[in-house]
Order: sequence, then structure tokens, then C-alpha cells
Amino acid sequence: MREIQDKKNTTNTNAKACLTYAIGSGKGGTGKSFFTSNLAFNFSKHNLKTLIVDLDFEASNIHTYLEMPEQKYSLFDYLNGKMNNLKNIVQKTSYKNLSIITAQSCEYRNLTNSVKLNSALDVDLDIKKFFENIRSLGFDRVFFDLGPGSRPLAINSFLEADYKIAVTTAEPTSVENLHFFLKKTFSSYLNTLCKKHEFLNELISIQKKKDSLKLKNPSDFIKHLKNNCGDEGLKIALKLEAISPLFIINQCRTPMDFKLGQSLAQASRRYYSFNTSCLGHLSYDEKVWQSIRSMQPLLLSYPQSHVLNELDIIYKNLKYIEKNSNQAYALAS
Ligand SMILES: Nc1ncnc2c1ncn2[C@@H]1O[C@H](COP(=O)(O)OP(=O)(O)O)[C@@H](O)[C@H]1O
Ligand SMILES: [Mg+2]
Repeated sequence: MREIQDKKNTTNTNAKACLTYAIGSGKGGTGKSFFTSNLAFNFSKHNLKTLIVDLDFEASNIHTYLEMPEQKYSLFDYLNGKMNNLKNIVQKTSYKNLSIITAQSCEYRNLTNSVKLNSALDVDLDIKKFFENIRSLGFDRVFFDLGPGSRPLAINSFLEADYKIAVTTAEPTSVENLHFFLKKTFSSYLNTLCKKHEFLNELISIQKKKDSLKLKNPSDFIKHLKNNCGDEGLKIALKLEAISPLFIINQCRTPMDFKLGQSLAQASRRYYSFNTSCLGHLSYDEKVWQSIRSMQPLLLSYPQSHVLNELDIIYKNLKYIEKNSNQAYALAS
């Protein structure tokens, strides 16, 4: 696996205008790819040049959601140095303003290559450089559809994106795995920040004293950093608070499910001190899987589906957050 770099792409005139979204979850099957493809389609319909990057190397299927054949070249070819320029692996969809980069092409489905793939997934990629190169491609919005679970690629991409969307269903298993995902995100970012601020020794000594200091959860830890650890502690604490995941509850069936987003946001503010909020709920609707069978965005296959109204609310909430950065809290519930 080469270190990700594309010299031709390093000067970036469009990067500032490009906003990035990562869509993650603790578990597969929560609806990330359905949500990502339909949300991105929504942005593209509003005349924004939109790219979806499929980062689910083990179950890459954004191309299928948008009725595209399996691609000859993929992100995996780029990461392995087989393709040198990201531009050459961008594929236009048949929809105006919407392109994708697929995670892996058909030739990586054989056994030898899947071994290569597994080792590639665990390598610590230079995510900052990768995002910088993606931002320089000239798109207005980029959506990263992450693989499930807490592998470094998913966690680091989640942390690097401008907006971090966490998708869960209302099932306890899905919520539980989301909690693991957020815990891993917190601890991974904490380690990175402590390395950067030369704070690792202090971190170890705080961890040793955590019982006597009564640090029961990440939020207590953040308070301690703010109040007792000088300027460096304060800087680290503020960055941790700014992780700000935005929750989507998908496949809602009962009235209780439609309340889960607010409770989750509140609980994670208390437990992690994240400035988090609920972005919206999506109903369980048979039309969703039917639209996936037709390999088309829901808007085209089932324009009457009420999930479209819910997607539209989420789109508007995101536009509000984009305009009023750091005001996610203020979202109407
Ligand atoms: N809102 C929904 N209503 C009904 N079924 C849904 C909904 N969202 C997702 N699904 C079902 O869940 C399956 C998995 O969704 P997908 O987006 O591929 O999950 P992930 O990318 O998180 O693994 C879909 O194939 C679809 O059948
Ligand atoms: Mg998926």
C-alpha cells in the first residue's frame, strides 16, 4: 500500500468550497449506503456538483444503488499505486451533477486480492492527504460512505470530514454498536491530539488516577482537562467536544423510534460532551427496498414515498448547519 499522494493534485483551488460528509455507523445494514446515495442525489438535484466516495471495501455497493456496472478502476487501484490520478477513477453517473468513486472493482473479488485488501484496510493511511486530494477534484460536496465498525479507515475518515453523520436503527444492537463506534472515535482522537500536543505522559498519569479523580466517563475527563490541565488540556478538550456527530435514526417503525434521535443526542452530550444533535428520522418503508431493487434513487422510483419528505427535512437541516457552522444544537427537534 503506498502512502496516499498525488502530486498533480496537491494545489487546490476548489478545496475551500468543497464540504465533506462522512456517514458511519457501528454496524452493517443500518442504511448508510441507502441514505448516502439518496442524500447525495438530493444535493446534486440542487445544482451542487456532488461526489460519493465508497469507502466500504468489504461491501462496496454504491454503484449498484445508482444502477452502474461494476467499475474497471477503483479506489483500491489508486491506493495501491495502479492508478496515479484520482480524477481517472471518478465515474459519472447517469444523473446530472452526481459522480462516484467505487471502493473496489470486480478483479479484487478473487481470493489473493482479498488477502491484499484485508492488509490494506489495516494500514494507517494518510487520511489528511487523501481528503485534501479528494477536495481538490472540484466538487461542491463529497459524501464518504464508510464501512461498518471501528477500523482505522472508518474512524479516521469520520474524524477528518467536515460533517460527521452517524446512522443507526432503533434496535438495541445497532445503538450499542454505535456507542462502540463513538467511543473508539473519542479515544482515537484523544490519542492523536495528545501526541500532537506532547501530552501523552499527562494522559497516562490521569488515566492511572481516574478512580480517585472520579472520572467515570469521557465527559468527566473533558471537564478535568479543561479545569486542571492548563492551556494544552483546554485545547484538547475543546477539540474533543467539537467532534459533534449528527444522528440519523433509520427504519423507524414505532412512535418511540421517532423520539430516539433526541434522546441519543442528549445522552451523548452528557456522556461525551460532544456538541451533538439529531439530524432526523427515516421511517421504515417497503418502498425503500423496492427502490434498491430497481437500483434507482427513491425520488425516481417511488416519488410518493413519505421517506422523501424526511430526507428533505434532513437536507434542510444540513443546509442550516452548513450556513451556521457550530449551530447544530439549534436544530428544530
Ligand atoms: N428506511 C428504510 N426502510 C426500509 N428498508 C430499509 C430502509 N433503510 C434501509 N433499508 C434496508 O436495509 C438494507 C441495508 O441498507 P444499506 O444502506 O445497504 O445498509 P449499510 O450500508 O448500512 O450496510 C437495504 O437493502 C434495505 O433493504
Ligand atoms: Mg453500505
